[in-house]
Amino acid sequence: MRRRSFLQAFPALGVLLSGSKSRAGEPDRSSSGQGLLLTTWGFGLEANEVAWKTLRSGGSALDAIEQGIRHCELDPAERSVGLGGRPDRDGIVTLDACIMDHLGNAGSVCAMQGIATPISVARAVMEKTPHIMLAGAGARQFAIEQGFQVQDLLVEDSRREWQDWLKDARYRPIANIENHDTIGMLGLDADGHLAGGCSTSGMAFKLHGRVGDSPIIGAGLYVDGAVGACTATGHGEEVMRTVGAFRVVQGMSLGLSPQAACERAVEAIANFFQRRGKDWSDTQIGFIAVNKQGDVGAYALRSGFNYALKTESREGLLPADSLLG
Ligand code: GLY
Repeated sequence: MRRRSFLQAFPALGVLLSGSKSRAGEPDRSSSGQGLLLTTWGFGLEANEVAWKTLRSGGSALDAIEQGIRHCELDPAERSVGLGGRPDRDGIVTLDACIMDHLGNAGSVCAMQGIATPISVARAVMEKTPHIMLAGAGARQFAIEQGFQVQDLLVEDSRREWQDWLKDARYRPIANIENHDTIGMLGLDADGHLAGGCSTSGMAFKLHGRVGDSPIIGAGLYVDGAVGACTATGHGEEVMRTVGAFRVVQGMSLGLSPQAACERAVEAIANFFQRRGKDWSDTQIGFIAVNKQGDVGAYALRSGFNYALKTESREGLLPADSLLG
């Protein structure tokens, strides 16, 4: 179901989520449900379910985001995130993640090896250090100091896939790989606070040391508690080139709806490709966004991108509209 027809089918959603105004322009959500979760791809359904339990038990959007993404990271069957993620060219699983709250607090880790839950390490960077981002061996050292366990993240299926890839070792993006990629999750809690996070093992068989958009604040994720939040999935280099998530939130701050802001960002990516004369036939990019009022948007470069929505009364996996059909 397209977003527009989804909203037509559930017209109460906008009202339910926008709430009434109380102090200093903050929406009063005490009588309007327990918030909203919006997550990339099919694995977002399960992540939303876990995160929703956190919201229901009084957790913040930030807590919910961490729990939802952790659940996905710890599932060895999910091959683009955490334990079981696809390795790089050298057969090493390296993970990227970041998290951000409504006040602009942010934490991030990139190219980290051997720790299955980078989203929780990112949160620890945010809460326990004066920094925003730790990389590689430093991120892992910090995680160990914080009590995270080291483990081998390469599962047998990923090893086999990597060994097959080595036979001709071609770098070629695959749009909608296995119908999922980065987990990006946005949340709005009962206090009207926004938060977001994203986590990935990055592009399969990437060069060792490659970092994509997902741990980059402003590229893979951005939250402005007074405006809205956005996260990205797909080919990270293109999202970094256009500072994708910030671009979407900036669009919302200038008055665009989350949907229109996502559309403008995808169009900008298409324009960059055209200007550079590059082949983009296999590239996929998707954005999801929510504003402070609880309106949501999603848009992709090409078809195949979907996202999971959860509110007090609604949940489902929705196909995003796309620029190229
Ligand atoms: N969007 C994930 C990556 O490119 O690494």
